[in-house]
Amino acid sequence: MIRSVVRGHGAALPKRVMTNKELEGVVETSDEWIVQRTGIRQRYIAGEGETTASLGAQAARAALDNAGLTPDDIDLVLVATSTPDNTFPATAVDIQRRLGMTHGYAFDMQAVCSGFVYAMATADLYIRGGMAKRVLVIGAETFSRILDWKDRTTCVLFGDGAGALVLEAQEGKGTISDRGILTAHLRSDGTHKDKLYVDGGPSSTGTVGHLRMEGREVFKHAVGMITDVIEAAFAATGTTAEDLDWLVPHQANRRIIDGSAKKLGIPLEKVVVTVDLHGNTSAASIPLALSVAASDGRIKKGDLVMLEAMGGGFTWGALLVRW
Ligand SMILES: CC(C)(COP(=O)(O)OP(=O)(O)OC[C@H]1O[C@@H](n2cnc3c(N)ncnc32)[C@H](O)[C@@H]1OP(=O)(O)O)[C@@H](O)C(=O)NCCC(=O)NCCS
Repeated sequence: MIRSVVRGHGAALPKRVMTNKELEGVVETSDEWIVQRTGIRQRYIAGEGETTASLGAQAARAALDNAGLTPDDIDLVLVATSTPDNTFPATAVDIQRRLGMTHGYAFDMQAVCSGFVYAMATADLYIRGGMAKRVLVIGAETFSRILDWKDRTTCVLFGDGAGALVLEAQEGKGTISDRGILTAHLRSDGTHKDKLYVDGGPSSTGTVGHLRMEGREVFKHAVGMITDVIEAAFAATGTTAEDLDWLVPHQANRRIIDGSAKKLGIPLEKVVVTVDLHGNTSAASIPLALSVAASDGRIKKGDLVMLEAMGGGFTWGALLVRW
């Protein structure tokens, strides 16, 4: 059977780092409060000329280099983002343009912090359905541009960045020893819409709006939703926590990450954590974390890697991949 195999990875971060200490001058907060509640120590903030499309294109080029491929080899550019450069066209077509691609097709997906998991699951279907041989799957965000910088309950949590993977159709045996995406599980429940949302949009206010969140409510649901969908991925593949080499979670909050790992019986040494460095970069957080851990040699070819995310909607999902 056809499998969607990771052939390359890449990442891009804005030039400017903003530490918790610097945030102390923006809102009434402290480094100690932020670290204790979230594990975040710094985040990257996009400057002039740095946008979701520019960061996404940079991550895409890095992933293509890592794969030893060029834009000519790509059939589909799929971008997960909630902070597009424009309401339309899709950020994906701008990235396609920046890569000099005039062939193939490109579109965006919007599932907030679960966006990258949704995009990977979608790319997998396009590949297995024969509609693409190679897909650039990109998570790219500039959440700093939709934050209310007067609201300390949200502005300390998020950052900007982008990550990308190249997925390639390869022949597999149909067993869990195959490389590639082994199973994908997506969920959403719109009854939670008002717990994490942006209070603007083209059709409602005609403005971009700002991020609003009931942090405690999100926290309350996160661990249960994450562990439930990971259990579904284990059940579908006959695997257990012991078979995993790495858990690469969405990087929202250290306490949510640790709580989920503990509940699943996954030792913390097997969990990739970058939230301290990047903050919550929404759809970019998983590919950024993957790129960090694959570049520093932690994630190796053949490793069994669980990806999971939960975010606005609520949306959530998990994906089991053999690297
Ligand atoms: C946001 C979050 C860190 C807040 O932590 P918490 O322990 O729930 O804190 P609370 O909201 O109960 O607030 C506790 C106190 O800290 C204060 N506080 C909030 N933000 C603060 C900040 N940045 N600095 C200092 N104090 C802050 C609150 O005003 C409150 O003060 P009060 O007790 O005087 O009213 C936590 O709820 C969380 O991580 N939620 C999930 C958020 C998330 O990951 N969202 C993205 C999902 S993709």
